[in-house]
Amino acid sequence: MIKSLLCSLSFSYFFSLVTSQVPPLNPAGRQGAWQLLHASVGISAMHMQLLHNNKVIIFDRTDFGPSNLSLPSGLCRIDPSDTVLQTDCTAHSILYDISTNAFRPLMVQTDTWCSSGAVLPNGTLVQTGGYNDGDRNIRTFTPCTDEYCDWIEFPQSLLQRRWYASNQILPDGRIIIVGGRRQFNYEFYPQNIEGKSSGSSTDHIFGLNFLRETNDYQMENNLYPFLHLLPDGNLFIFANTRSILLDYNQNRVVKEFPQIPGGDPRNYPSSGSSVLLPLDDQNEAIEPEIMVCGGAPKGSFTQATQGNFIRATSTCGRLKVSHANPSWVMEDMPVPRVMGDMILLPSGDVMIINGAEMGTAGWELGRGPVTRPIIYRPSNDGPDWRFSVLSPSARPRLYHSSAALLTDGRILVGGSNPHVFYNFTNVEFPTDLSLESFSPPYLSPEYDPIRPQILSLDEKIKYGKSFWLSFSVKDYLTASVLSVRIVAPSFTTHSFAMNQRMVVLKIVGVTTLLPPAPCAYGLSMVGPSTAEIAPPGYYLLFVLHAGIPSSGMWVKIE
Ligand SMILES: *[C@@H]1O[C@H](CO)[C@@H](O)[C@H](O)[C@H]1NC(C)=O
Ligand SMILES: *[C@@H]1O[C@H](CO)[C@@H](O)[C@H](O)[C@H]1NC(C)=O
Ligand SMILES: *[C@@H]1O[C@H](CO)[C@@H](O)[C@H](O)[C@H]1NC(C)=O
Repeated sequence: MIKSLLCSLSFSYFFSLVTSQVPPLNPAGRQGAWQLLHASVGISAMHMQLLHNNKVIIFDRTDFGPSNLSLPSGLCRIDPSDTVLQTDCTAHSILYDISTNAFRPLMVQTDTWCSSGAVLPNGTLVQTGGYNDGDRNIRTFTPCTDEYCDWIEFPQSLLQRRWYASNQILPDGRIIIVGGRRQFNYEFYPQNIEGKSSGSSTDHIFGLNFLRETNDYQMENNLYPFLHLLPDGNLFIFANTRSILLDYNQNRVVKEFPQIPGGDPRNYPSSGSSVLLPLDDQNEAIEPEIMVCGGAPKGSFTQATQGNFIRATSTCGRLKVSHANPSWVMEDMPVPRVMGDMILLPSGDVMIINGAEMGTAGWELGRGPVTRPIIYRPSNDGPDWRFSVLSPSARPRLYHSSAALLTDGRILVGGSNPHVFYNFTNVEFPTDLSLESFSPPYLSPEYDPIRPQILSLDEKIKYGKSFWLSFSVKDYLTASVLSVRIVAPSFTTHSFAMNQRMVVLKIVGVTTLLPPAPCAYGLSMVGPSTAEIAPPGYYLLFVLHAGIPSSGMWVKIE
């Protein structure tokens, strides 16, 4: 490095380039790295949510039998209606602390199996539904600074049972809860907008025929529908092979999109995954684009129950939903994948991680674990440049595994229990209680010289209002490849990261800060334009320089 370049700032292209378009990382030889965090956390990580105090709430279900983690101080859960253990002194939920790598048991009172969740604007996690005695319960978890906070349970608070439903946080701070097994409807949390008259409870259940129509007899293939809130305020819903735009305020289907080509279902148990690609709020008009990857061909579930494990789907589809006549653009992944998790990386790329090459979701129905994650770069031109295949994990991550983006840019990976109980022996894929993280190639130390480090930041950001942040870069800064984005942490389960979204923010100006801060820069920024683009709440803010992200810092959008 030439000394005179250190800490220098090049403005050359700053105002002409879209800063979200980052140059491709070198695709050769940089395959990321896995790290085992815990050989066992005592439970299998079926559901995960990162909270704004850098702790991750993880839970599975109560009716797997005893877990490998005791409840604290001799506590036991006494639940006469549990289908397996009526007195259970083990935990089925933990709180994992990223900074210390420690975890502690939490206590759920009723069955949380195959449930859903979303974080409220105030940072409290709202978990909805489950199975059996838990299928109409709501549970909240409010992050705390001590070691005592736990789940609070609100029995019978949902209007319908919600087992395999999906949730989305809305611009007004409510949560919409869509579908679930044999539920062709949706409801909200809270049920009423404050100040509006309440009416009877059935007034608050909204029928959605689309869910009935996409429900394949017995095999469903429309559970855990993919939900994405669009910048126009409507809700995009994908189920099976079809997708619609729902105006949930009027209970009106605004539009139906073409079916995804190929005829392969993409939702549970043919579990593919889906993301809303990063929204670029630097543009006058945002072009939202949905991406769906993987799944399993029709009939795979029935075939798998008879021992025939059909090759999973290898295609991804992208749909520009705001176009007048949108059509799916299809691409091929390097390997087929069912039960993959699609996670938005701070770089704006998509990681597809976990899952299997054959079979479907469901007990004992997946084969051929795909242990290598892939990265997809949505903005690269040639398809050959879009995908890269990364280092394999030593652990199969099949049914009931999950993944979530961490504050520092790693991906937390855990779970895999394709059995009705915790089964560690005499099964092809033993229950996995481990927790791992995957460091994507951008975390490679060779990029440290150009990696931004956030120094200070306004903790609260208002819609459309300016805010300020400062950061440093060890080597020189090229302002033309600078970008700032916020990421909403996901509630991940069953291969779908609910509420995950990324918004690229508008940079108004960049300044070099005076000493004593070495190599420090200031950015004046504009908050997200609307609550439809970024619903209120906590987001991770990343500064990206030449494709290399800083560690994330929490901001509250309001
Ligand atoms: C969980 O506990 C069982 C029973 O004590 C034991 O056999 C098994 O090895 C443990 N598994 C893990 C991953 O700790
Ligand atoms: C957030 O709001 C919910 C619902 O009103 C409430 O139960 C929870 O305690 C609040 N959390 C915080 C951190 O204030
Ligand atoms: C898992 O273990 C339970 C007992 O703990 C047993 O009944 C069941 O058959 C086992 N499942 C498999 C697939 O072996």
